[in-house]
Amino acid sequence: MDMNQHSNSGLRIFIIGFMGTGKSHWGKRWAQLHDMSFIDLDEIIEKTEGQSVVDIFEKAGEDYFRVKEASILRDQLTQQNCIVSCGGGTPCFYDNITWMNQHGYTVYLSAAAPYILKNVLDEKEKRPLVKNINEAELLFFIEQKLKERSPFYNQAKLILDAENLTETSLQGLIPGTI
Ligand code: S3P
Repeated sequence: MDMNQHSNSGLRIFIIGFMGTGKSHWGKRWAQLHDMSFIDLDEIIEKTEGQSVVDIFEKAGEDYFRVKEASILRDQLTQQNCIVSCGGGTPCFYDNITWMNQHGYTVYLSAAAPYILKNVLDEKEKRPLVKNINEAELLFFIEQKLKERSPFYNQAKLILDAENLTETSLQGLIPGTI
C-alpha cells in the first residue's frame, strides 16, 4: 500500500463487513499483532450517546444513528496507526466508503449468509436490525441485505475470506505493506 496516496498520511485501517463476520474480534487481534491501536466505532457511538446501539435505534431511530455514525467515523481522522472496526452498515451510508478509501485502507471481511446466520444468532438481542426477525426468516433477511450492501463492501481495497481467517494469516498481513 502506498501510504502517500492518502491524506493525513498516518496509517489507518478500516475493517468493514456484515454483522457477525468477526470485524471486532479480528480487528483487535490484528492491532495487537502489529502494535496498533484498536477502535470500535459502535463502542464510541455508545459512549458518546450514553446508550447502547439497540437503545439508540429504538429511541431515536436508525436515521439518527446513521448521522452520528458518519460523524464519529470522520472524527477518527485524528487517529493514526490504528485499526477501526466499523458497524455492518457503516460503508453503506453518507458516502462513508468513499471517505474511508480516501483517508485510510479498507478491508472487507467477506462471508456467506449461512456463516453469518450462525454468528448473528448468538448475539441477536444486541443487534437492532435483526432483533425482531424470527429465526426462520433470518437467513432470507441476511441474504437480501448482503446483496444490497455488497456494492459498498466490494469497494474495499482488500477482501478477506472471514470464514477461513486465522491468526497466522493476519500475522502475514503487515499493515503498511499490503
Ligand atoms: C449494523 C451493525 C451493527 C451496528 C448496528 C447496525 C448494521 O454493528 O452498527 O446495529 O447496519 O449492519 P456490527 O456489524 O458490529 O454488529
